[in-house]
Amino acid sequence: MTRSLHRILVAGAAGFIGSNFVRHLRRTRPEVEITVLDKLTYAGNLANLADVEGQPGYRFVRGDICDDELVNELASQTDAIVNFAAETHVDRSLMDPFAFLETDVRGTAVLCEAARKHEHEVFLLISTDEVYGDVPEGRSAEDDAFRPRSPYSASKAGGEHVARAYAESFGLPLLVTRGSNNYGPYQYPEKLIPVLITNAIDGLPLPLYNDGSAVRDYLYVEDHCRAIDQVLHEAPLGSVYNIGTGSETTGLQVAEAVLEIMGKPRSLIEFVADRPGHDYRYALDVSRITELGWEPQVTFAEGLERTVRWYQEHHEWWRPLKSGEYWEYYKRNYRPLAGR
Ligand code: NAD
Ligand code: DAU
Repeated sequence: MTRSLHRILVAGAAGFIGSNFVRHLRRTRPEVEITVLDKLTYAGNLANLADVEGQPGYRFVRGDICDDELVNELASQTDAIVNFAAETHVDRSLMDPFAFLETDVRGTAVLCEAARKHEHEVFLLISTDEVYGDVPEGRSAEDDAFRPRSPYSASKAGGEHVARAYAESFGLPLLVTRGSNNYGPYQYPEKLIPVLITNAIDGLPLPLYNDGSAVRDYLYVEDHCRAIDQVLHEAPLGSVYNIGTGSETTGLQVAEAVLEIMGKPRSLIEFVADRPGHDYRYALDVSRITELGWEPQVTFAEGLERTVRWYQEHHEWWRPLKSGEYWEYYKRNYRPLAGR
């Protein structure tokens, strides 16, 4: 099956994945009218969308997904919502859980209500593999129980529960994707890979929590965007899709690979105090999205090389972000490993 959508409201698209998704959609479906709604928090950045600004069929609205009046107005002018808007960084969620509950739960509810009221064709919620919690063994399948362990993942799980309730109670035409760890151009330099790359460029220590052994499935952002596009246009309403590569990489392996690409010494690695409640492994069963006909095209080696080059060539994008509030957050977040 394929569905054709003409006017899509993309919330949170001034951030990392959303901006890559808008660029992807402009390339693959230039006829689709896109309205971006974004609050421009510290993680939102109009520079991420500079290359689509001014194009016919694209407009940007600055605003909050919790603002029901504004959301209703925009929903009345569109037929589908894709929601990327969220507070997204686990470490910040340990410092200010309520900002996460407000946007990731209440904001999602406001969008669901507007989509219902205006009889939208699809509501696609961009969720995360973190809702399954720590997975010491095996792989998480879409019907597995939620066991979130951080304020971030609990808020994302809450948003999913609200959306599911709207689907069950009011017939909201819901789709959900649960992606693994994305990396690539335009990722705010608080997440592991851009922290490692930008610190290495400046000869600063590369901080790894505890012993760097936590495992993630790193997914190149363009591959994620292709999967989201495919789910949005082809998946049966009511379905949920895990999206990942099925690979497992430790933080230490990521740091070593970054240093290798950049020709920098391993001595830059610094083990620091662990993240409280750190999930040591996520691993997805990706058979459902594979059956839909999607598979990743960019290997981790290739994607990391591209990402390192992008940050090396775009100092003007990330240097202004690493100033002021960023360093206050950084100093608060990183502590020495006990006993050192
Ligand atoms: P990001 O932090 O880079 O961007 C989030 C965007 O949401 C920003 O532009 C911000 O301004 C906007 N925003 C925040 N609160 C808002 C509000 N109340 N109203 C309107 N806009 C608001 O995030 P990202 O890494 O691009 O993640 C996008 C989505 O994908 C999130 O929902 C996240 O949970 C999910 N996700 C991320 C990953 C990952 O590895 N980054 C993996 C799986 C799922
Ligand atoms: O799994 C999907 C999730 O991936 C998304 O839902 C989140 O929005 C996104 O932030 C990301 O969460 P993680 O916590 O997995 O990503 P982060 O880049 O913060 O950390 C990746 C791993 O690296 C994790 O085991 C913690 C570790 N880490 C992280 C940072 C920032 C370090 O060792 N050092 C660091 O400085």
